[in-house]
Amino acid sequence: MKTIKIAGFCGSLRKDSYNKKVLNVATSLAPESMEIIDVPFDALPLYNQDLDTETPPAAVSAFLNTLDTVDGLLIVSPEYNYSIPGGLKNALDWASRGKNNPLLGKPVSLMGATPGMWGTVRMQAAFLNFFRLFDMKLVMKPEVLINAVQTKFDEHGNLTDDFTKQVIQQNLENLKLLIEK
Ligand SMILES: Cc1cc2nc3c(=O)[nH]c(=O)nc-3n(C[C@H](O)[C@H](O)[C@H](O)COP(=O)(O)O)c2cc1C
Repeated sequence: MKTIKIAGFCGSLRKDSYNKKVLNVATSLAPESMEIIDVPFDALPLYNQDLDTETPPAAVSAFLNTLDTVDGLLIVSPEYNYSIPGGLKNALDWASRGKNNPLLGKPVSLMGATPGMWGTVRMQAAFLNFFRLFDMKLVMKPEVLINAVQTKFDEHGNLTDDFTKQVIQQNLENLKLLIEK
């Protein structure tokens, strides 16, 4: 069985991030043939077209080289001010340029968690045009919008909500099918 390699992005850099916990849960619930690797992006400089040359900063090269090796993406992110957190958008802007853009046509799963009521729906909607621009193939169903996230983890950081587990697992099965198509 060929291993499917997925770049996992967490849109929050916070140590106790709920979205990081969700990414960890997703990693543990992924299909057997799927490996989700953590792709840190906090060392990337702010996007600057003057730095975006044949020899970009080392952190950018390392980031792009990692993305070159993956079959798809899993983005788990909070919503910041009804949109995509700036750090995550900065990382994806670095990935989005040039003829070797590693995002082009890639399958992607998008998930988000918030203590609020709206389950990151506005962040997820803000991503749609980005994915469209690069012909990225979004897993449309089931959507993973986790609201009131603080009620769905116990004090040890375990996800206790069965429905949330189910949709995460099914979403990743569908990501696998999309990649195998
Ligand atoms: C700068 C900032 C903007 C935020 N904007 C929103 C928002 O638009 N919608 C929302 O539901 N929560 C918003 N929140 C609250 C986050 O959902 C909450 O802090 C969440 O726990 C962050 O995710 P994390 O736990 O993975 O760090 C915002 C938080 C911050 C720090």
